[in-house]
Amino acid sequence: MSDQAAAGIYPPSSDFAANAHVNAELYATMYAASVADPAAFWAEHGKRIDWIRDYTKVKNSSFDYGNVSIKWFEDGTLNVSANCIDRHMVQRANQTAIIWEPDDPAKPARHITYAELLEQTSRMANVLKAHGVGKGDRVVLYLPMIPEAAYAMLACARIGAIHSVVFAGFSPDSLASRINDCQAKAVITADFAPRGGKKTALKANTDKALFDCSDKIKCLVVKHTGDQTSWVQDRDIDLLAEMAAAKPYCPYVEMGAEDPLFILYTSGSTGRPKGVVHTSGGYLVYASMTHQITFDYHDGDVFWCTADVGWVTGHSYIIYGPLANGATTLMFEGVPTYPDAGRFWAVCEKHKVSQFYTAPTAIRSLMGLGADWVERYDLSSLKLLGTVGEPINPEAWNWYNTHVGKGTRPIVDTFWQTETGGHMLTPLPGATDAKPGSATKPFFGVQPVVLDASTAAIQAETAAEGVLCIADSWPGQMRTLWGDHERFQEAYFSQYKGYYFTGDGCRRDADGDYWITGRVDDVINVSGHRMGTAEVESALVAHEKVAEAAVVGYPHEIKGQGIYAYVTLMNGIEPTDSLRKELEAWVRTEIGPIAKPDLIQWAPGLPKTRSGKIMRRILRKIAENDHGSLGDTSTLADPSVVDDLVANRMNRG
Ligand code: WTA
Repeated sequence: MSDQAAAGIYPPSSDFAANAHVNAELYATMYAASVADPAAFWAEHGKRIDWIRDYTKVKNSSFDYGNVSIKWFEDGTLNVSANCIDRHMVQRANQTAIIWEPDDPAKPARHITYAELLEQTSRMANVLKAHGVGKGDRVVLYLPMIPEAAYAMLACARIGAIHSVVFAGFSPDSLASRINDCQAKAVITADFAPRGGKKTALKANTDKALFDCSDKIKCLVVKHTGDQTSWVQDRDIDLLAEMAAAKPYCPYVEMGAEDPLFILYTSGSTGRPKGVVHTSGGYLVYASMTHQITFDYHDGDVFWCTADVGWVTGHSYIIYGPLANGATTLMFEGVPTYPDAGRFWAVCEKHKVSQFYTAPTAIRSLMGLGADWVERYDLSSLKLLGTVGEPINPEAWNWYNTHVGKGTRPIVDTFWQTETGGHMLTPLPGATDAKPGSATKPFFGVQPVVLDASTAAIQAETAAEGVLCIADSWPGQMRTLWGDHERFQEAYFSQYKGYYFTGDGCRRDADGDYWITGRVDDVINVSGHRMGTAEVESALVAHEKVAEAAVVGYPHEIKGQGIYAYVTLMNGIEPTDSLRKELEAWVRTEIGPIAKPDLIQWAPGLPKTRSGKIMRRILRKIAENDHGSLGDTSTLADPSVVDDLVANRMNRG
């Protein structure tokens, strides 16, 4: 181990830096330019994509609470699908655009060229048009990780429709609320979603969801597994059959840079999930630039992001970023542990993956199953590793570095959010000294500031701690919440005036490197998935035996954070183990399996102030098994409830 490694610092190797798109000097000059004159910087880098009509205005943004408005390249026009497909046809028609690896390793993988991508996307676009979907209409996608998910996203972009992908692990209720919130005209789903050898009945879930939606909504079904499903005449459409009969080319529509590309629902600290809106021009510039530079993507590389297209990571780094760059992107239908814990590495070997991008939770769970699974495979094709979704603990970073990276591949720990469209803080592999657990430095154009959480004072010293805000706009930023610009301003611009508030706490060390310390609001991060505690609470109180519920996060060895629920039952209801199971199952069906509480504690009462506000700080401490430092409980209406909660706490680890 080098002296630097012993000190926890991993500089880029000189070989890597020599061939990288960006080395340390270039990062310094480009970053300085990007914040000194953002409009000039992005005027230049906006040219990385193809415009139908060139932009003359680059940046037009205000973070002033009450007047928040964000526009990039506003008078330019383009088509995102044309940028991801058509513009590569001269050079790359026969290059693989998408490698599809099915859940079942015995089934053949598929290699879809850019020419095939154009044809399939066009066919699907023509089917959508035939069913009346056009510019500005919303289409909800509820699909397995299959090439049709990519075709569907790109087909919407091609005709100017706005897609909203709903993760296939969400329940019918969650699907229905998203369909209704964005008033979708059509839903694209599949019969079943195979994952880890099991099958989720997507069509049956969609049928249930559509009971609660307008009966005008069309349901386009990909017959993927071919298993039997119910069929509603005049509503359900056999998508693959209609694609086969459709014209193989569909012209693309000219879109404004600020026309919405997609809506993606994400959890917030209050209320129902928020429909984050991303638009066309700025998003694509930012997704493609971060993909190329953070991962140091070069022609001929095979890029694999293991996320699901139901999350923003899948949008930006399976579909839009890579395809805008003419890359080969791998799409994996399965899970890391099926048929065994070597699957990730088997896929890396089989498809000669160059860049591998996954979540810390996956690394921690594989770490627990032993490095033997990694050592069995030839991972010599790997050039770079990445992580996303939550802070990575140094132990997992070191395991990833040693066993997967063989101590020689750079690791990029990328901090970003559904709202940010692309990477915000990340090492650049040829430029930045990595430190296990730190997302290090801002990407071009990103101006992080650390504010004191309670006074909002700027922490100007290099070494500082507080909440992470961003001082000015960048092209990949969300523009609004679907149908609710007020809520958008409230959620992100009201607490720290003049700044975008990430909702995360952070520390900046003496070298100016950022360390994300986790959410400071009521959002928890379970296995790299965002979950609003309010959503789980409202699911729990919807159960007839539950009077009240309070949900907090607690540290979980594999998941990062687990879901800890305090439940007060209706008078006369007995707390039993079977009721606990019933409530777990209830939350699974109300929201989806990812929201199932890990621990449920029966709470005869919840700690409340005299004005009736639940003191979550106390509930968090008890859930963390840190009840020695509960602080002042004298303001509680009934301090004795705390003793009961401490005595019966569920986490004693
Ligand atoms: C957390 C995922 C630490 C953070 C792209 C953020 C991280 C939330 C990191 C967004 C990281 C994401 N280090 N924390 N590298 N990446 N987070 O919207 O709390 O699903 O606010 O976007 O994940 O989650 P989201």
